[in-house]
Amino acid sequence: MKVILAKHAGFCFGVKRAVEQASCLAEQGKKLCTLGRLIHNASVVERLEKKGIRCIDSIDEVRPGESVIIRSHGVPKSCYEELEKRQIEYFDLTCPFVERIHKRVEQARNHYERIVIVGRADHPEVQGIYGWAGEKACVVPDVKAAEALPWAEKVLVVAQTTIKRELLDSVYAIVKEKSAEAELFDSICETTYLRQKETRELAEQSDAVI
Ligand code: F3S
Repeated sequence: MKVILAKHAGFCFGVKRAVEQASCLAEQGKKLCTLGRLIHNASVVERLEKKGIRCIDSIDEVRPGESVIIRSHGVPKSCYEELEKRQIEYFDLTCPFVERIHKRVEQARNHYERIVIVGRADHPEVQGIYGWAGEKACVVPDVKAAEALPWAEKVLVVAQTTIKRELLDSVYAIVKEKSAEAELFDSICETTYLRQKETRELAEQSDAVI
């Protein structure tokens, strides 16, 4: 049987950076916990646990003497405020590509009538972006939700870094029809785009894709 390994298989830049830096901090003797799983990969999470890095779901679970790792998905602004208020040390391993979206939506919140985040509302990255965009933000997971948007004068469209380009293009086209001024901040990650493209190409020439 012929097995083809995708050129872009493996960790993306942001996740690789987070895993390496978390491991390095653990080796320095830090007591660490991550807010949510550092990576969607059970064996890597298990390896990190063996290094003493435990996973928590809320700041309330931080133990005395522990430092918090913010994973590559990023977190809402309120999370930084809470960590600072409680004087909890943290290491911010938010992917720079996600951080770029936080900065853009934060700048935009006073200048746009609506900020559309194309992505899944239950995804931690989207929840983080939402937390930087403020009350003018709305999450649009599909074309149907875009069609239901009311008219707005000025709209900024951003995207979860891992969504499909076709979805972003379709939503942006609809938003343009429903606003006087629409701007696209293209935040799909290049890594994601290349992986999706390669997966499609490999699917065409393979009997099965894992
Ligand atoms: Fe990975 Fe950062 Fe892109 S976490 S998928 S390199 S946005």
